[in-house]
This record gives sequence, structure tokens and C-alpha cells, in this order.
Amino acid sequence: ELGQYRHYMQKEIFEQPVALANTLEMLGTARSIQPGLFGAKTEELLSDVRQVLIVACGTSYHAGLVARYWLEGIAGVPCNVEVASEYRYRDSVSDPQTLVVTLSQSGETADTLAALQHAKSLGMTRTLCICNVPESSLVRENALRFITRAGPEIGVASTKAFTTQLAALYLLTLIFAKLRGRLSPEVEAAELQALRHLPVAVGKVLALEPAIQTWSEDFAMKQDALFLGRGRHYPIALEGALKLKEITYIHAEAYPAGELKHGPLALVDKDMPVIAVAPNDALLEKLKSNLQEVRARGGELYVFADADSEMPASEGVHVMRLPEHYGQLSALLHVIPLQLLAYHVALVRGTDVDKPRNLAKSVTVE
Ligand code: F6R
Repeated sequence: ELGQYRHYMQKEIFEQPVALANTLEMLGTARSIQPGLFGAKTEELLSDVRQVLIVACGTSYHAGLVARYWLEGIAGVPCNVEVASEYRYRDSVSDPQTLVVTLSQSGETADTLAALQHAKSLGMTRTLCICNVPESSLVRENALRFITRAGPEIGVASTKAFTTQLAALYLLTLIFAKLRGRLSPEVEAAELQALRHLPVAVGKVLALEPAIQTWSEDFAMKQDALFLGRGRHYPIALEGALKLKEITYIHAEAYPAGELKHGPLALVDKDMPVIAVAPNDALLEKLKSNLQEVRARGGELYVFADADSEMPASEGVHVMRLPEHYGQLSALLHVIPLQLLAYHVALVRGTDVDKPRNLAKSVTVE
């Protein structure tokens, strides 16, 4: 079943082009998006939504954090994202004109299910779940649904479920933008084209695997690692740190790079590798000055730039370039080298990649 791959995680990382192509298959060659993608009542339920509340756990939560940048930045919809286990026990202010979005690979995560029940008990009945398992408990509980077609995910560390969730969340963003008159027909056609290009774009990023494998040797002996990103790439830094923690047991943390000087900079020395997610976006110049602060403290930098980022390599600054610049979708592309990095560091360290200690694939208990 593993074919040419050594582990399910590696196989699933490499299945991402197909998973995305399947998830986006219904777009066909259309130049405009059908709101019905999320269920027959999509337009009716979304048209007067005032805000979006995303609840999820772990990697799915990170997908929600990326979506917040898209929903607010592209569609102009206020959006909050909460860890499900916190939301369900918090006294919060509810608004019936909220769209509650649950994200889950398995659709069986107890905390996410309970958070949805909690939101409904507060009178929020506009519910959408984005889930990878059509017959799961979560899917049954929602008014609207979108099934990602990543296929079965067996490795405990979630990979292809995450990128397909992001594709679904980007579609949701475009639907909101359209309903709110913020999407011209030309831009809409171009956005759909960008989505259709994703499988090819992901394939090109996967081709970086040998170079990432070389980097992984440097990390295998470390105790800690720091991941930095800004804007929509901060959640990608969080996801990179989670992947590394889960399967290599190296302590990793992620920060939005502007926060460095407010504390974590104190940790940086020559033994703390710093991984930066650095595509060419509006915050790149700011990120570069944050990175200089790291270099000045002797921290070794590993930078994932893209074709357009002005980011020269130098002493202690290793730069790997993703082959294209992907605009808003760069978050989806930039997670891939971080998945591969965690995987290859785990191989060097000899950990059980597909079944990391203390973790279960589906967390059906509180
Ligand atoms: C991380 C991971 C977990 C899950 C989390 C939610 O690699 O797999 O953090 O993302 O347990 O699971 P789902 O998405 O099934 O609700």
C-alpha cells in the first residue's frame, strides 16, 4: 500500500497534488464560482452573515487561523478563530448572524463536536463544516458542508487534510467576497485559475525534497527550534512547529516575527535554529529586519523564500526558494517544505513517524 514511500506521512505529503485536484474538481473550467458548493442553502444562509467563527483543534485550528486573513482581507468578513476546547467552556458573546465553521479531518474530534453543540445552544444555527470524512458525526450536525477529498489520512501527523481544508476555506472566502460585491468577474476568473494551478504548484514545491533532506541533518541534533512568520504565514510557522514537535520530539515554538523583541529573542543563540517562512509579501521587509536581530545573536537561519523574495544567502543564513510566487495562496504552498522538514528530521532521529508517542489519530475523548 505504501508503494514507493517509506511511511504514510511521506506518501500523504506527496499525495497533496492529487488531493487538491480532487477537492477542487467541481470547479471544472468555470470562470465563476457556484455558491452551491457548500450545500443548496449556501446563498440563503451566508447572505446576511455578520461574522464568521471558526472552531477547530490542532492542525485544523491552524487552517482556521490562515482563513481569518483571507476572510477579513479579501471578503471583508469579520472572523474569529478559537481552539474548540477553549470555546466550549468560555462565556462568550453570541450573535445569531454568525456563521459557525468547524474544521476537522476526522469529523470525530470530541472537542470540536462539543464546541459546535455549544454554539448551537447559544442560538447560532448557521453552521458549516469542512471535513474529510463524509459519514462522520460532525458532518451530520451542520446545515452546510464541504467534504475535502484528501482521501484516507493514516499518518497521525495531518498533512494533506490541512492543505485541502485551506483550498476549501479559500473557496468560502471567494463566495463571501462575491456575495458582498467584492469580486469582479475578471478577478474571480483569475482566482479560480490560481486554485486550478495548485496541484502543479504543489508538485514543484515537492521537488525540493532532496534539498530539505540536506537541511534536516542540521536539525536532528538540536533540542529546540524557533519558527517565524508574519501575517497569513504566522499560522504556517505554528503548523511547522507542531509538525516538528509531534514527530521528532524536538521542542519547537512559533512566533509572529514582530514579537521576537518582546521576549523570545532572549532564547536565541547559536544552538537555536530559526526557521523563517518568507514569501514575498507586504511584510517581507519587516521580517528581514526581524531576522537580522536573530543573526546578530548568533542564531542560524533557515529561510523558505519564494521566487520573488529578495533574500540573499550569507554566512549563517541558508535560503531555499519555492519556485513561484503564489500571492494569497502562498500560505498553502509554504507549509509543504515544513512538512517535509519535520519528516526528514524524524527519519534522521529514528522516531516512529506514523505513530508518534502519546498521540492518537482521532481524539474522540475530551
Ligand atoms: C496534528 C494533528 C492534530 C489534529 C487535531 C484535530 O498533526 O493531526 O492536531 O489536527 O487532533 O483533528 P481533526 O482535524 O480530525 O478534528
